Amino acid sequence: MKNIIIAIDGYSSTGKSTIAKAIAKRLDYIYVDTGAMYRAVTYYALKNNLISKTKFDVETLIDHLPRISVSFKYNKDLQFAEVHLNNVNVESEIRTLEVSQFVSQVAAVSEIRKKLVEQQQLMGKDKGLVMDGRDIGTVVFPDAELKLFMVASPEVRAKRRYKELLEKGHNLSYNDVLSNLISRDHIDSTREDSPLVKAEDAIEIDNSELTVDEQVTKILHLAKNIGSQKSDL
Ligand code: DC
Repeated sequence: MKNIIIAIDGYSSTGKSTIAKAIAKRLDYIYVDTGAMYRAVTYYALKNNLISKTKFDVETLIDHLPRISVSFKYNKDLQFAEVHLNNVNVESEIRTLEVSQFVSQVAAVSEIRKKLVEQQQLMGKDKGLVMDGRDIGTVVFPDAELKLFMVASPEVRAKRRYKELLEKGHNLSYNDVLSNLISRDHIDSTREDSPLVKAEDAIEIDNSELTVDEQVTKILHLAKNIGSQKSDL
């Protein structure tokens, strides 16, 4: 069954990527983490001193877009596609709190969104795709066969994220993580271009109290129903 696109949107650290990865594995679909693409561009901006706490040189970043290439390369050992910036693996560099602190500003720039959205739409041309982000069901694939919108309380999300970052050896406080989540949610849902909103036909999943297995079972059930309806047509 390779005939559908599964769009997963939702707030930061709602566990979208964990779920999306697990679903893609079970269905043998391609998984694309679009947040990683915005993070890679943000990492470029930081490396080139185009963004800091006191400035954001948007014009230069837009001028540099033709020379910024974001791609994914499958890592057989990890069993997922790692993000590359100009052919260099930046998978761990993009997961820092520093990148998280600037990514929402970068993701609010229309020229950047346009470039990345076009690339994302190409990845879905043969379907068989699970993609997660903020605008997948609303802008990237408004006709996706299955749309999910993940929510969880900010405290549950911050705890998960804090644990994840500590395990990776980052030294930071829970309050920094919580305030970063709250500020990103605000910027992501109030920006002018493609704000984070639940698509009308998306199914909302509050996973504050659900295990990963419970969510995966529920979503696979939904996907199989839709997939089999489509093959009956
Ligand atoms: O999913 P994430 O936390 O890694 O995403 C990082 C940021 O990128 C997030 O704060 C908003 C932005 N983003 C977006 O604007 N559109 C997407 N499709 C995915 C992410």
